[in-house]
Amino acid sequence: MKSSPWWKEATIYQIYPRSFFDSNGDGEGDLKGITSKLEYVQELGVDAIWLSPFYTSPNKDGGYDVADPRDVDPRFGDLADAKKLIDVAHSLGMKVLVDVVPNHFSDQHVWFQQALKAGRGSAERARFHFYDANDDGTPPNNWISLFGGPSWTQVEDGQYYLHLFDSSQPDLNWENPEVASDYEVTLRFWLELGVDGFRIDVAHGLVKENLLTNHPDPQGISDALRLDVSMDPEIRYALLPTVPYFDRQGVHEIYRKWRKLFDSYQDREIMAVAEAWVHPPVNATRYVRPDELHQVFNFDLLDAPFKADFLYEVVTRSIELMDSVGALPTWALSNHDSPRVASRIGEVQARALALFVLALPGSCYVFAGQELGLPDGEIPDSSRQDPIYFRTKGAQKGRDGARVPLPWSGEAAPFGFTSGKPWLPLTDKWKELTVEKQSVDPKSTLNLYRTALKLRADHLISQGSITWLESPHHGMKSESLLAVRRGNVSIYMNLSESPVEVELSGKLLIMSAGTVDARDGKMTIPAISTIWVHH
Ligand code: NOJ
Repeated sequence: MKSSPWWKEATIYQIYPRSFFDSNGDGEGDLKGITSKLEYVQELGVDAIWLSPFYTSPNKDGGYDVADPRDVDPRFGDLADAKKLIDVAHSLGMKVLVDVVPNHFSDQHVWFQQALKAGRGSAERARFHFYDANDDGTPPNNWISLFGGPSWTQVEDGQYYLHLFDSSQPDLNWENPEVASDYEVTLRFWLELGVDGFRIDVAHGLVKENLLTNHPDPQGISDALRLDVSMDPEIRYALLPTVPYFDRQGVHEIYRKWRKLFDSYQDREIMAVAEAWVHPPVNATRYVRPDELHQVFNFDLLDAPFKADFLYEVVTRSIELMDSVGALPTWALSNHDSPRVASRIGEVQARALALFVLALPGSCYVFAGQELGLPDGEIPDSSRQDPIYFRTKGAQKGRDGARVPLPWSGEAAPFGFTSGKPWLPLTDKWKELTVEKQSVDPKSTLNLYRTALKLRADHLISQGSITWLESPHHGMKSESLLAVRRGNVSIYMNLSESPVEVELSGKLLIMSAGTVDARDGKMTIPAISTIWVHH
């Protein structure tokens, strides 16, 4: 069954265009490459794809530095290729979301070039955040960019401009009505081309306050906001609510207007998901109030340990919070900004957790390659591309590991991804992980995802929320077992290194590892695995 509206419990497959499939041998994935693999994506059983940026860009930050938000970068193809991709996806029954990046432009955008020329006090500079230096020549405040180094860069006449990310990504000034109306043109442009919605980058960052105020620990908050930087959770979660530049109330006004725009495309069920990691977590619910956006990303599982207590809290809280505004949660185990889940918690654990999460109410985001159980790539420093690596002078390796191209076929790297030299190296160790190998192996991670997504559609979509089950041996949130019931399905995740026997009968639908011993009303769940049982 499909959920209604389509996005409510959709599984959405994130494609990082540069890493998906290269159709022209230049070593980088492109739109034609994606289109040629859409049947693969459809066979996986997802409802929609989300494309990370493919717009005109100098590509200093993997395309999140947009020089023209209404055109395609030649490295990815052209607008006709984008249209074709959308049409083919639709003909295969899949929706298409594109990424929009309204917090900043690239410094190569015509507006920023004009601002540099026009000088202080000009209307051109008022589209960004330009300020004079302090009397001693230092920047207007002490904030540290999320990619390391100061958040301010000085231009020739001595003014500074704000960039929460790379210096090539000047933040836009959303107090300026010109910015808002230009962005509306961008949204309409892609809607007219046929997309079904948007993933909104840094959705919580558009409105700035306190621009002339220092923070007591600017480096701390910058690190805390980065999922690729490991940090004591207590320190991280104490710092996060103090971030001064995200989640200001003014952003909601913007999304109310966007919602009206989306709804004006009647019958199209346009949706938008906010990338907004906000603290305390209850603040996330504001983005999905009925007159705002449709979904907000849930970041909790991206750095969650494979621990029952932690997962129990995250799942319970996420469902309850979203329920308070009549929304459903979203779930993601990996994305292009965080270490891949198989590297972070282990391959077997990642399979168990995926099977658990795919049973939950709400929408699931799957990052391309996650369905293959890919670990992070092994990247020599000489091949690194992430601005984080350069801005921190190599102290932080950055996010390239999660962005290594997909292995499609063959026995050696680059495994059919390109006929040229891949932009990030693939390792020969991925020989058993190719789509070709996994497609014919019934026990592969790829087939686990395929089967789970089919069963999810058949038995779980639209079946309401979960009920936690108390296990006779282990209690509701024991160290070793998490169990829930949803509709007619019981889902058990054994997190321990030993098999666990539970009183349980019914039809075993799927398991993430090993074999399940079932007799006399009991089932033995293999170590580190999840099972679904139908009653
Ligand atoms: C979040 C995106 O996911 C990330 O890749 C990007 O670097 C920043 N926003 C800045 O746009």
